[in-house]
Amino acid sequence: MTSQVTLIDHPLLLHKLTLMRRQETSTAKFRALLKEVSLLMAYEVTRDLPLKYETIETPLATMNAPVLAPDKKLVIVSIMRAGQGILDGMLELMPSARVGHVGLYRDPYTLIPVEYYFKVPQDVEDRDMLVVDPMLATGNSAVAAVYRLKETNPRSIKFVCLLAAPEGIEHFQQEHPDVPIYTAAIDDKLDEHGYIIPGLGDAGDRLFGTK
Ligand code: URA
Repeated sequence: MTSQVTLIDHPLLLHKLTLMRRQETSTAKFRALLKEVSLLMAYEVTRDLPLKYETIETPLATMNAPVLAPDKKLVIVSIMRAGQGILDGMLELMPSARVGHVGLYRDPYTLIPVEYYFKVPQDVEDRDMLVVDPMLATGNSAVAAVYRLKETNPRSIKFVCLLAAPEGIEHFQQEHPDVPIYTAAIDDKLDEHGYIIPGLGDAGDRLFGTK
């Protein structure tokens, strides 16, 4: 079994992603674009949310109208810190979703993730989980975060990123064949520092204006 990779290649999304990749794009613009792109991705990632029907009155008639099934509750988990950008966009579309955070930093020498923060809602067992991080590079952070999150027993997990490297996808699929991946693009490769090529640089630095 290999986890499914869904390419969310909507033209609007790809156009915005190109703007984000440009090195001259400012922090403010990058932040705004990441929010917009995340909204578009949320639309695709939640396509399979089940509906139920309830009777409502419009100004003109009674109808049986679709609403989201009330037991279909979501938790969005941001892999800090760049995941925050996707989280903000998704929360605009799904303001009632609960939120979790996993803090991992990448040791610059070994590239191995080290956990420094972990907090998810108590009722996570009743929720479907979207784990968000813009970059699936080596896959080390995503793999570690999902192992840790599986310990909390969510109903299901999906992993959502903006850009993925083939190496990261392969690594993630080996470790978590049961977790589907959603991404807007699959780039060429990783460089020797674990950055995605051509990529967009360091997503956290570009989002927060650090360097
Ligand atoms: N993390 C980033 O922010 N950018 C990359 O290219 C790889 C990992």
